[in-house]
Formats: sequence, structure tokens, C-alpha cells
Amino acid sequence: MIHKGDTTSGPDASATPEPKRHARIRVVGMGGSLAPTSVSLVALKVALEGAATAGAETQLLDLRALDLPMFLPTAVPSESIVRFCDVVYAAHGLLWSSPLYNGTVSGAFKNAIDWLHLLGDRHPPYLTDKIIGLISTAGGVNGLQAVNTMEFITRSLRAWAVPVVLPIPRAADVFSADGSVRDPRVADQLRSLGREVARAAHQMSVQGYCDWTDDRGGGRGAQPAVGPAGPGGTRPVD
Ligand SMILES: Cc1cc2nc3c(=O)[nH]c(=O)nc-3n(C[C@H](O)[C@H](O)[C@H](O)COP(=O)(O)O)c2cc1C
Repeated sequence: MIHKGDTTSGPDASATPEPKRHARIRVVGMGGSLAPTSVSLVALKVALEGAATAGAETQLLDLRALDLPMFLPTAVPSESIVRFCDVVYAAHGLLWSSPLYNGTVSGAFKNAIDWLHLLGDRHPPYLTDKIIGLISTAGGVNGLQAVNTMEFITRSLRAWAVPVVLPIPRAADVFSADGSVRDPRVADQLRSLGREVARAAHQMSVQGYCDWTDDRGGGRGAQPAVGPAGPGGTRPVD
């Protein structure tokens, strides 16, 4: 697990205190690849388990099962696309998991994100103030590149990324062929990330900020972001 900005390895997940339960918080996991057995999907499911142990209601949006068409700006969205957007919008927290494809997120993951452009006319727009936990799986060691891309997306959609991110290197060594997590440390880190998303989403929904949004200037007393159309207006996503 990597704490963004840290050069040291992440906290020992086994030292994580007993999770508090956060009722009525919805955490939605979105990701996986279109491969029949997807390790990024397995990672996502384990992280969702963590959110569930913290008391969140959880829902999995498996990109393979969703089978979203390519985003078309002029399309009248189908019922299933509107449902997809509604589920994401109703979440307090999200977990995103993508494989590293050619140095960044997969096309399927980015395509799903592009459909969220439809949330631009909601109030508040896009993913305002949702808490997002970021996961990637990679054949090699450059998974942080996908996570960094997800962080840019998070910011553009006006959400908050959990500072501790989880790029999983050498995924073939970490996951078994049957799709289970072979490395218990990684499983612990995934569950820990899920719990943090539930915790921070709960704090954000109750207090309007969470511990680390304060650190980034978005907490108590911060002014809302103002685009050309004013607070919460229809500024296009960056
Ligand atoms: C089209 C494609 C591109 C890939 N590009 C990279 C890459 O740039 N770097 C890397 O480390 N692994 C790369 N991989 C390996 C995947 O990131 C790795 O196998 C991942 O864990 C697969 O996740 P999945 O089982 O959810 O599909 C690539 C795999 C595919 C199919």
C-alpha cells in the first residue's frame, strides 16, 4: 500500500484498530476488466468486504457484467446507463479498481467514467465530495500510473481520493488462478482501504469534511469551488 507522497512503505495493516461500524453509508465498487477471470475485480471485491465490515451497504459494479456501450456524447442514454449513473451518484463512497493497460487505466474503465459525464447536471454535479479508494493491478511494477490517472479523474469529478492508494504490482504472484488472493498482506490492505472509504465517507456525510480533506484545504470553513457558472453550477468537468 502506498501513501501518496511517502517514500516509505505503507502502514502495517495488521496494526489497524478494530473497525467502527458506519451505518447507512453506501459504498459502491466499480471496476474489473473484461477478462473472464479478472484479478482487478477480485481485488475490488475484497476491498468491498472491508467496507462492509465497517458497516457500509455495498454494491459491486462489475464492468464486464455492465457491458456499457462506448460513450457517445450525442446518445440518448439507455435505462441501464441511467441506472449505472444513479447507483454511482447515490454512493457516499466509491472503490475504483482497474488493471494497468499500456501504462494507464483500461479503456473499459475510462469508458465507464466517461458515462459519468451525465452527472454534470445533477445538484451537486458529478461526484462532488464523494470519497474514493483507488486500486490497480499490474503485471509489472508501474501500477501507480493507473492510480495517478484515477486521481486526476477523481479531482476532475470533484471527489476526494483516499490518500493511501493500492497499486498491486506483479499481480500474477498475488492472485491464484481461481481468483483468490494468495498474499494475505494484500488482502488485509484491500480490506483496510475499504474500511477507510466507509469511515471517511461517513465523516464527510455527517460533518461535511474528513480528516485528510482538511489537510488539502477542503475542510472546515473552506469555500466551495467556484466555476464560471458559480458554486455547484454547470462548469464542464475539467
Ligand atoms: C492490453 C493489456 C495491456 C497491459 N499493459 C500493462 C502495462 O503497461 N504494464 C503492466 O505492468 N502490465 C500490463 N498488463 C498486465 C495487466 O495489468 C495485469 O495482468 C492485470 O493484473 C490484469 O488485470 P485483470 O485480470 O483484471 O484483467 C497489460 C495487460 C493487457 C491485457
